[in-house]
Amino acid sequence: MTRPQVVLGVSGGIAAYKAVELLRQLTESGHDVTVVPTAAALSFVGEPTWAALSGRPVATSVWTDVHEVPHVRIGQAADLVVVAPATADLLAKAAAGLADDLLTNTLLTARCPVVFAPAMHTEMWEHPATQANVATLRARGCLVVEPAVGRLTGADSGKGRLPDPVELAAVCRRVLAGVDQDLAGRRVVVSAGGTREHLDPVRFLGNRSSGKQGWALARTAQARGAEVVVVAANVALPEPAGVKVVRVTSALELRDAVLAEAVSADVVVMAAAVADYRPVERLATKRKKTDTLQVELVQNPDVLGELVAARSADQVLVGFAAETGDADGSVLDHGRAKLARKGCDLLVVNEVGETGHPTGFEGESNAAVVLAADGAAVEVPLGSKEALADRVWDLVRERLH
Ligand code: CTP
Repeated sequence: MTRPQVVLGVSGGIAAYKAVELLRQLTESGHDVTVVPTAAALSFVGEPTWAALSGRPVATSVWTDVHEVPHVRIGQAADLVVVAPATADLLAKAAAGLADDLLTNTLLTARCPVVFAPAMHTEMWEHPATQANVATLRARGCLVVEPAVGRLTGADSGKGRLPDPVELAAVCRRVLAGVDQDLAGRRVVVSAGGTREHLDPVRFLGNRSSGKQGWALARTAQARGAEVVVVAANVALPEPAGVKVVRVTSALELRDAVLAEAVSADVVVMAAAVADYRPVERLATKRKKTDTLQVELVQNPDVLGELVAARSADQVLVGFAAETGDADGSVLDHGRAKLARKGCDLLVVNEVGETGHPTGFEGESNAAVVLAADGAAVEVPLGSKEALADRVWDLVRERLH
């Protein structure tokens, strides 16, 4: 099998240093990568770095190796062009169809999918000129990944960061795989992670949820074209590229954030492990040790229940449930009863406590049965959390109007 040919365009922004890691990710996952930096990019990261890590010659200008007609050949041979970081200037040139260096020529000759990962200061990103250029590129079929929010070049922070390179590489792999854009135009909200209910400033009641399944749901929905918001409770993972992340700690915060985001959502997936109880009292200062300790707990609101009560007619709601079989019934019996009690459209049921299977919490893989309110039961065998996520989106897709 021939290896996918990727062109990594790098334009002149400080995030060029992160494109080095993207290059590594792409080459290590079996792609042949030709790096085409702009002249300005070389002010941030030099040509030897790109050449050494790609194992290929690196050119910036159309005047290098002219006999090989690089300004046409590189774009024509590409299976994917990804520009990371894409500066405001590069986006403007690409939108206008300018071709004053090797990268912009390559963008005009490429007929493969093109991904732009913009990175710039918030003001530049939000400027109507940049937004118009992004809209033009999207209308032309390019994937423009939303920048992440966080620390920018200086002390300031805001929207404009290059997404994590590992996550950008994941986007590239999915684009190369030709993922169907069947969630385009849909807005989805995913809750992820596990809530923490504080007893005092340093102690909390929590759970083992890592957020990996919620992250996989966000990543796959983004790849399928959805606008994605993740409400993340205590997730310590690099943020999925192109996804809005709202950070929360407790169940009450999660509830407020999810309900606010759900108002305009087509789909809400509650993958978060929400604590059933919180301490009645949260001390302002650290609790001192006593011989015995009794903590009074009060029930948290049922977020999924509130979503069901507030839903619009065509909103699809998905819950997750970790269950064990017992004397009262099997895992699926309990799952069916919970689906009916909760009133959601789909319930993804994990069996917990099975030894030898790294399913569920913290692991990289998961197995589940997805129960539907219309009676369907779809078994998803042990596989990656992304495979389960894609299956969930397939079932959601069938239920969207
Ligand atoms: N959930 C929620 N709000 C809560 C608790 C759970 O929205 N306070 C959501 C979870 O995110 C999950 C689903 O409800 O999608 C099922 O969670 P689970 O803890 O199994 O539900 P409970 O109603 O708490 O059921 P149980 O009595 O088995 O604990």
